Amino acid sequence: MLFLMPFLLILLTYSKGEIQLRAFKQQRVNCNERTVLQCNISSPTPLNPIKVYWRKEEERDFECDPTSSKIPSGFECNYTGEALTLTITNPTPANIGTYFCCLKMESGHATETIKVSIGECTGEFSNQMAGPNQMQCSFSGVYPKAIINWFHYEKNLTSNSSTASQMNSDGTFNVTSVLNIQDNQKRYNCSLWSLKQGRYLDQEFEVPDHADFSPSSRISTQHCLSWTLILLSLLFSSRACLPL
Ligand SMILES: *[C@@H]1O[C@H](CO)[C@@H](O)[C@H](O)[C@H]1NC(C)=O
Ligand SMILES: *[C@@H]1O[C@H](CO)[C@@H](O)[C@H](O)[C@H]1NC(C)=O
Ligand SMILES: *[C@@H]1O[C@H](CO)[C@@H](O)[C@H](O)[C@H]1NC(C)=O
Ligand SMILES: *[C@@H]1O[C@H](CO)[C@@H](O)[C@H](O)[C@H]1NC(C)=O
Ligand SMILES: *[C@@H]1O[C@H](CO)[C@@H](O)[C@H](O)[C@H]1NC(C)=O
Ligand SMILES: *[C@@H]1O[C@H](CO)[C@@H](O)[C@H](O)[C@H]1NC(C)=O
Repeated sequence: MLFLMPFLLILLTYSKGEIQLRAFKQQRVNCNERTVLQCNISSPTPLNPIKVYWRKEEERDFECDPTSSKIPSGFECNYTGEALTLTITNPTPANIGTYFCCLKMESGHATETIKVSIGECTGEFSNQMAGPNQMQCSFSGVYPKAIINWFHYEKNLTSNSSTASQMNSDGTFNVTSVLNIQDNQKRYNCSLWSLKQGRYLDQEFEVPDHADFSPSSRISTQHCLSWTLILLSLLFSSRACLPL
């Protein structure tokens, strides 16, 4: 029996050194697209880890342990013996950072690092009239930070607008801009200009007829077709509708 000891010791030391965690060290995830981070385990002998878990450098309290009932919200983690996985169910800019997959064994620790970055989040577009001759457009959930420029075809109207930006808890931004409309144009482009990517995302829209708050504005022919308006216009003897 004794003569086997050196061999066993050598084998133990050897196999200890052989436990390897392998992962793609840099990962770029897409905004809102379920992503799985994976650390593959290679070991010549079956592992019997004491604890298997994920940590995040930027958040001291972050721990995802598949055997625990306390899983960070927005994450799932798993351990299969061959791999450790961490699923980010709905990636947002708040999820970027450095993650560690960790194996704790009698013989020591094994750790691998994955740096996670995120692509653009285009956000949700919406628009409305903010007041008489004031058009508002918004992009919510945008990343990285962006500004809004206004165009009527080639004409840059941005100098007659004001833009405000707010950060959400998930790291995305809500960008809102109000354009003061001076002329009688109907069609505008509200363009999101990414400060990092430097390109436009155009959203075109028209000033709707009914959104005209201005009291001095002309009554459109469309409105004249409606009975209510015909009656109203008869009541106020508006010239525009009398010929009907
Ligand atoms: C981990 O294993 C899977 C298959 O089980 C493979 O697709 C993936 O490329 C491996 N990852 C690394 C970093 O080797
Ligand atoms: C974990 O992995 C096992 C084996 O692949 C699988 O059967 C199980 O459904 C997984 N659990 C979760 C929560 O993904
Ligand atoms: C809005 O932008 C689109 C795409 O860049 C362009 O085709 C369209 O002519 C623009 N419309 C206006 C009113 O500026
Ligand atoms: C901005 O509004 C002023 C009137 O207040 C107008 O004279 C000017 O042409 C507008 N500028 C642009 C770029 O539309
Ligand atoms: C439009 O005007 C804004 C500010 O007035 C400026 O920052 C932007 O670069 C202009 N864009 C183009 C395409 O001319
Ligand atoms: C950003 O916009 C979304 C959708 O409109 C809204 O639910 C959220 O409260 C806004 N965030 C901030 C910081 O105002």
